[in-house]
Formats: sequence, C-alpha cells, structure tokens
Amino acid sequence: MTELERKHDRTPVPSQWDYAPAPEARDLVELRDRYGHFVGGEWLEPKETYATIDPSSEEPLAEVGQATKKEVDLAVRAARDAFTNGWSEISPAERAKYLFRIARILQERSREFAVLESLNGGKPIRESRDVDLPLSAAHFFYYAGWADKLEYAFPNRKPRPVGVAGQIVPWNFPLLMLSWKIAPALAAGNTVVLKPAETTPLSALLFCDVVRQAELPPGVVNIVTGDGRTGAQLVKHEGVDKIAFTGSTVVGKAIQRELAGTGKRLTLELGGKAANVIFDDAALDQAVEGIVNGIYFNQGHVCCAGSRLLVQESISEPLIGKLKRRLETLRVGDPLDKNTDVGAINSRQQLDKIKELVASGEEEGAEIYQPPCRLPEKGYWFAPTVFTNVAQSYRIAQEEIFGPVLSVLTFRTPDEAVEKANNTPYGLSAGVWTEKGSRILAMAQRLRAGVVWANTYNRFDPASPFGGYKESGYGREGGRHGLEPYLEFE
Ligand code: NAI
Ligand code: MG
Repeated sequence: MTELERKHDRTPVPSQWDYAPAPEARDLVELRDRYGHFVGGEWLEPKETYATIDPSSEEPLAEVGQATKKEVDLAVRAARDAFTNGWSEISPAERAKYLFRIARILQERSREFAVLESLNGGKPIRESRDVDLPLSAAHFFYYAGWADKLEYAFPNRKPRPVGVAGQIVPWNFPLLMLSWKIAPALAAGNTVVLKPAETTPLSALLFCDVVRQAELPPGVVNIVTGDGRTGAQLVKHEGVDKIAFTGSTVVGKAIQRELAGTGKRLTLELGGKAANVIFDDAALDQAVEGIVNGIYFNQGHVCCAGSRLLVQESISEPLIGKLKRRLETLRVGDPLDKNTDVGAINSRQQLDKIKELVASGEEEGAEIYQPPCRLPEKGYWFAPTVFTNVAQSYRIAQEEIFGPVLSVLTFRTPDEAVEKANNTPYGLSAGVWTEKGSRILAMAQRLRAGVVWANTYNRFDPASPFGGYKESGYGREGGRHGLEPYLEFE
C-alpha cells in the first residue's frame, strides 16, 4: 500500500472491542444424578439427600447426601479400621507412593476438576485451572516428599500419627482446602473423614474416584457430605482424635467450646479482614494489580483477601483513580468462560450477606463505586465494588464481607498504618507495597498477621505455612509446620 492509499483508506475502525465467548467444554465433566457417602472405599446409599446447584444459573447439578449421625459413625469406624489394620503400619515410603499417585492423577485430570470446581462453586475457570488445581496437586507432591522424612522434620522427637482426623472444609476453595487437609494427614500416617461444604460437595466426591484410581487402601479417606449438622456430628464423634476446621469464626468458636476438655486436637483456620498497605513510594500500577488480585480474586471469597486497602494519603487520589479505571476492565460473568475475571457468588446466603454489609456501608456514610457492568439475570452476582471515605468504625471496615468489596482507608505515617492495620479482631494476612526493603521488614515485624506479602498478594506455596492469630484461628497449614497437628511425639 502506498502512503497515499493509506491516507485514503476509509475502513471504519471499530471504536469498541469486545471479547468473543471462550467457553471451556462443560462436557469434560460427567455428573451422576445422585451421590452417596464414600465410606470404606464404597459408596454408601444416603438416607437423606439435597440438590447441589450451579450458582451461576441456579440449575441443579446432582442430588447429594445429607449425612446423619449413623452415617458419620460408619465413616469414622471405617477410618479407625483402616488406621489400625494397616495404614499406620505400612512403611512411610509406601505412604509417599500413594500421595505421589494422587498428585499425578490430579494433574492428569485437572481440566475435568477445574470445570467441575467452576460449575459447582461459581469461580472463574481461569482461576480453578491456574490456581486451585495446580496448587492442589502441589500439596500432594509436597507432602509426599515428607512422608518418609518425618524423623528429619522433627529431629529427636519420634513422631507418630494421631489417628483418625475429622476435617471440615468451606466452599471457597473446595478441592484446594481438601488437599491442604488430606495431604499432610496421610503423609503423617493418619486416616481421615472429610466433610466438604454443603454448597460445593462435587469436587470432593470426584476426588473419591482419584482415591480409588490411586488404589489407596479402603477407609484411609472417607467423605461424608451434608451441612453444618453433619459437621457437628463429626466434631463430637468420640472416635475422632483430631479436628481440622476451615470456615467462619462463629462456627470455629462453637467447635472450640464443644471440644474443650475432651483432649481432642484442634486446628482452626477462620476469617480475616486483611490490610493491604500501600506506601507512597510503591510502584502504583503494580500495586493496582495487587489490590485487584487481593480482593476480586475468587469474588473476594478468600479468608486472606486484602479487603481493607490502607493508602498513604499523598498518593490516595492517583491510586484510587487508577484502581477505578482498572475495575472497568474486569469481566464479570460466566465462570466457564476463559476470559472471565469475576464469577458468580457462591450461594444466595452469601449474596445476601454481601448485600447487607454493602447497604450498611452506604448508610454509615461511605462513598460507593461500581464500574458499569451488566450482571446476568439468573444466578448470584455482585459487581466489583470500592468504598472510599471509610471510617474505621464502619461495619465494612470491621466485618468480613467475603465478597468483591474493597474498603479504602488512608494513613499518613507508618505508625498510623500499623495501628490501623492491626485494629481488627482478626490476624490472618496483610500486604505491604513499598520500594524500601527495610520498610518491608519493619512492617512485617509489626503487623499482627500470620502471612505478610510484600509487593505481591495472595501468593501460595505448599512449602510456606499459612494460618492466623487472634480470631483468625490457630495452627498452621502448609510447610513442615502443617505436619505437626497430625503428629504426636513420644
Ligand atoms: P461456615 O463456617 O458455616 O461453614 C464452613 C464449614 O463448616 C462448612 O463445611 C459447614 O457445613 C461447616 N459447619 C457449619 N456449621 C458447623 C458446625 N456447627 N459444626 C461443624 N461444622 C459446621 O461458613 P458459612 O456459613 O458457609 O459462611 C459464613 C461466613 O463465614 C462467610 O460469609 C465468611 O465470612 C466466613 N467464611 C470464612 C471462610 C474461611 O476460609 N476462613 C470459609 C467460609 C466462610
Ligand atoms: Mg454457616
């Protein structure tokens, strides 16, 4: 084309570009109409059932069991039987082999699991594919490596397994939380009964298939489904030696009361209200990405979400401007679309909670911003939201919202930042953004949080222990620390 022709080219340039739909194949997942409980390597026909749904469409996916006291009892017995008759005795290297197998099978079947996780939980396929699945496999690989090295992990302490672990997990990272719980428990030589959350049981039920494929001895892993009533039965069952719980602080406290004086071991991973602290020397564009990842990842259904943004006053205006512009580019919608950034809210109950807290924020005087976006008509949705003008006393600055809602506060000095960041009943995580290494170290020392990220957010690694202070619970998961709750020492 000559220069002249180019000048005269009148081809209309589209003023607006849009993404074509890029749906992941839903038929990668084969669902059964009805699922039982997985007990002693067999499917136990459930007495009661309920429907589990796709929160993005409210379409029922399958009937699953609501385990009663009797069914929980059968599962605990199966776990005890497997523990005493073999699993606690086999060589640690042999245990490792099973864990490696599970990790490999999860990798092989990761697309299928990712689709199922998005279908049942509402999270974007990009996240289940790139975060939940690789990390789940990584946890099994990591703990497989420890199984035959426990004596080195705890020198001179003669570790031995605790026995039967009762494990209760939430709905925000169903398979990943299952992996966080099951991998260290088995590596340490325990057997388990795990209860997934009532809204997201399907990946745990598909995991039973992996357990069979790996030829894990029957009864080493048992899965019972159901709501809090089933969880409560598991907690109080006399045959359980240890409870590991991830979920709300309210339920964590109830479990703690229930177990007081019983001698049962307990670890609790509860809620959070993390501060993400941005200093005036931080790289702003990078910080904006970290803020977005901190609070809109997984629709904000993240216990360590960076839900309170603390910005140094001098950069507050440009930073918030950049953040709002970035929010306009977030794509909210079909969880199975590969271009989706923000998926569906996990349940009607959670959506109601988010709405209630957002209304309280507006009422108390905060300024709300939501980018223009069209939400699907069916299903549970909430637009990415930023609140500015937030006072520390507001509910949106105090309570865990567990949704895509950010509360912005400002500070002038590092001391003020620390004080505000620590002004919460929780203590799970925090973020610090600054170019100064010394400031990062000083802040990490002073922030009362189990995990402090520097110039990044929501990064996980199986080798790194995770857990909280105060009302965020106690005990650590991940790393060598994560083995300890599953071991006794002579
Ligand atoms: P939840 O604590 O009720 O549920 C978590 C798990 O505990 C589920 O498997 C549930 O069936 C089980 N459970 C419920 N009651 C129980 C009981 N009495 N005994 C034993 N197990 C029981 O959490 P929910 O109601 O789903 O969410 C409420 C709020 O909790 C959320 O809005 C969020 O703020 C927080 N949450 C925090 C999580 C975290 O990762 N730290 C995960 C889920 C919720
Ligand atoms: Mg609840």
